[in-house]
Amino acid sequence: MICDNLTVSDGRLRFAGQDTTLLAREYGTPLYLMDEDKIRASCRAYTAAFRRHFGPAARPLYASKACSFKRIYEIMREEGMGIDVVSAGEIHTALLAGYDLGRAYFHGSNKTDGDIRYAMDRGVGFFVADNAEEIQAIEAEAARRGVRQKVLLRLTPGIDPHTYEAVSTGKVDSKFGSAIETGQAEEITLLTLRQPHVELAGFHCHVGSQVFAEDVFERSAVIMLEFIARMERVHGYQARQLDLGGGYGVRYVDSDPRLDVDAKVAQVAAAVKGACGRLGIPLPEIHMEPGRSIVADAGLTLYTVGAVKRIPGYKNYVSVDGGMTDNPRFALYGARYTCLPASRMDEPRHLLCSVVGRCCESGDIIQEGVLLPEGVGRGDLLAVCTTGAYNYAMAFNYNRLPRPPVVMLRGGTEAYVAVRRESLEDLCRNDL
Ligand code: LLP
Repeated sequence: MICDNLTVSDGRLRFAGQDTTLLAREYGTPLYLMDEDKIRASCRAYTAAFRRHFGPAARPLYASKACSFKRIYEIMREEGMGIDVVSAGEIHTALLAGYDLGRAYFHGSNKTDGDIRYAMDRGVGFFVADNAEEIQAIEAEAARRGVRQKVLLRLTPGIDPHTYEAVSTGKVDSKFGSAIETGQAEEITLLTLRQPHVELAGFHCHVGSQVFAEDVFERSAVIMLEFIARMERVHGYQARQLDLGGGYGVRYVDSDPRLDVDAKVAQVAAAVKGACGRLGIPLPEIHMEPGRSIVADAGLTLYTVGAVKRIPGYKNYVSVDGGMTDNPRFALYGARYTCLPASRMDEPRHLLCSVVGRCCESGDIIQEGVLLPEGVGRGDLLAVCTTGAYNYAMAFNYNRLPRPPVVMLRGGTEAYVAVRRESLEDLCRNDL
């Protein structure tokens, strides 16, 4: 199976030990399921690997844009994870969960003055500043309050992570951060060091997402450390923190490799320690920001099949009761997924089809080239695997479709609603 929390019994798909048919009956479809035990296990894999390979000060930060709702931040709090937040909305949600924002890193490539005020009001520990205007805006707000705000600078190391273009962010021409190659990284460092109300804690980079290419993190770490060494040598500035961003890939289809978190972190640690030794600089406090690899395989979406349309000589469509509104990733990136006939797992699969959603939009496709049983039809249950990251987080209400609920599963038997299904009233709550 694509994920190790999937099994089959009596022809029915089980997720996190529980029968998907019964869950669909109880909570309705479309339905997001999340395996709480899996989320916790991934957090623990990262925290243990960081402790083992980087020492006690290093910390994984959960990139909460991957999946953000109150219960997730509670789990992050309980697991001792740092967090990366990108908006007042994420900060607010983390606060509701009782998360200590002193451990939060505030990202985003264009923070508004309102965002900056909001984050300072709530005591967000670190800002990751993207550009010079932002540094000046942070300085102005911190000066008004008479405080010194800790800041990391986002830099682009000039690395191509060989993932899809829409999530590639580490190249010199990226919209994010300041490039080392053009000298702009050095300029913004000097600008920041001149600000009396900004404390430069270190540097950050994030080269891309769904990255499998070997050595991308190692190469970007080395480039960042060379920059740190140069800043120390030339300007006498010693960076305490180095945040290497997120991006490890997860398994959506069988050809995707399995991620071994400990092995990956060990490789990065070896590169980081080697470079620090060679450059004669102390080991900075290392952070990484996994999002997808914490939550993706903890998620599964269940749909009920509706129309099955066969167009002889052309193609077949299997429609489901959700679509791009709960999973826009195929429409946006051509992202691949594994679709399973959750209520007919024992039948041979010979119907080649496109699984499509219910929006008035030809591009509303969940996946192409899917094999399902010939007899699939209205009322059957369809599961899409590995939907824990960037699905609920990117869901929207086109065609006034309510967003599905998120039901958490734990301990093999327990299920509870973490986010309730949107109602028709919810859809109209802002209409005056
Ligand atoms: N840190 C920063 C600064 C980021 O921009 C991101 C993701 C992460 C960490 C987490 O990366 P991860 O470990 O999740 O790969 N919507 C797209 C993904 C966009 C990623 C944006 N940044 C998708 O569905 O593929």
